[in-house]
Amino acid sequence: MAPLSGDGVLWLCLGISLFFAVRGIATDIRQVVDLTEIKRDEREDKIISEGTEEALKLDTLLKLSESTSHDLRAAALRIISERSTKGETRDILLADLSSKNKTRRGKAINALHFLVSNRALSRTSVCTRLRDLPTYTALVNCLCNFLDEHVEITSNTLSPILPRTRPLGEKKAIQILNSLLPENIPCALEAGVVSQWLTRYPFPCVTNADPSRRRDLFMLMKTWWADDAVMSSIFSTLTSHPDGIRQLRKHGLMGSMIEEENDQDDDDGDSDVWMVDGEDTAGTSGTFGSFRSAPRPQESSLEEQALRRRRREAMVLSEGGRPLGRDDIIQRPIQEG
Ligand SMILES: *[C@@H]1O[C@H](CO)[C@@H](O)[C@H](O)[C@H]1NC(C)=O
Repeated sequence: MAPLSGDGVLWLCLGISLFFAVRGIATDIRQVVDLTEIKRDEREDKIISEGTEEALKLDTLLKLSESTSHDLRAAALRIISERSTKGETRDILLADLSSKNKTRRGKAINALHFLVSNRALSRTSVCTRLRDLPTYTALVNCLCNFLDEHVEITSNTLSPILPRTRPLGEKKAIQILNSLLPENIPCALEAGVVSQWLTRYPFPCVTNADPSRRRDLFMLMKTWWADDAVMSSIFSTLTSHPDGIRQLRKHGLMGSMIEEENDQDDDDGDSDVWMVDGEDTAGTSGTFGSFRSAPRPQESSLEEQALRRRRREAMVLSEGGRPLGRDDIIQRPIQEG
């Protein structure tokens, strides 16, 4: 195949893929059955084997991606995607991801997000081609570039883990990391996911509180996972690997043995989502015990919600057996206004 060159072609084909992805969503839902059939029946992989894949011209692929046949469309999409994650095209994609130019970066983020999250591509080698050092390095650069953009208040959510200044586009980049991180944790660590990025990330509980409270971040992440499920999932993935734990601890984002023991206590498999589980939280006995397994409040008043939140935080911050004191409660400046 003639290698794709120039980002014009890349964005053309990814743009078209995106268009069909969006258009495809409605039909996707109706065609869940068809999709499962495709999974059982590997025919199309035989028809479009490696040789034929390389021989197909881009225009042909684009025509195929307009086909009314779901199978053909999906196959064309997969080939376009595989092509865009190798060779020169991949280099352009990664360079744009690292770029400080927001237009280029935004396009690269959209393209990569599409590539790693589209179900139709799950059987391709797209993710396996994106689990090397250059990819993780580009992604860490991209995430670090977002750090300087935490300037404007963009959200009203008061949370110990979710900054109110999250810039537009950052979430998508974090989602990409969340998809790619499990592929190769040591490599991502080498690229600086913790040492370059997380250690500088403006988590409210880290920036607002006493520096010695930095190490509570991990516990707060577990308790308040719903405030920022993607970020929590990244922490969950990192702590599934000994090197991840080592680095978080080295950079002071994960603390004492108490947290560690709790990790082992609730070792119930590889669930991606952390449930709030008061049983494992330090200092649950006594007054605050009754708040332990309360569902996220919906019916109660805002005041009650705020109170509960603070108490739950206090529970987490309280260290084994020591009575809770004022210092254990994170006071957020605006909340009590
Ligand atoms: C950013 O990249 C776009 C597209 O490549 C280009 O048109 C634009 O001039 C660049 N902006 C800056 C500030 O360099």
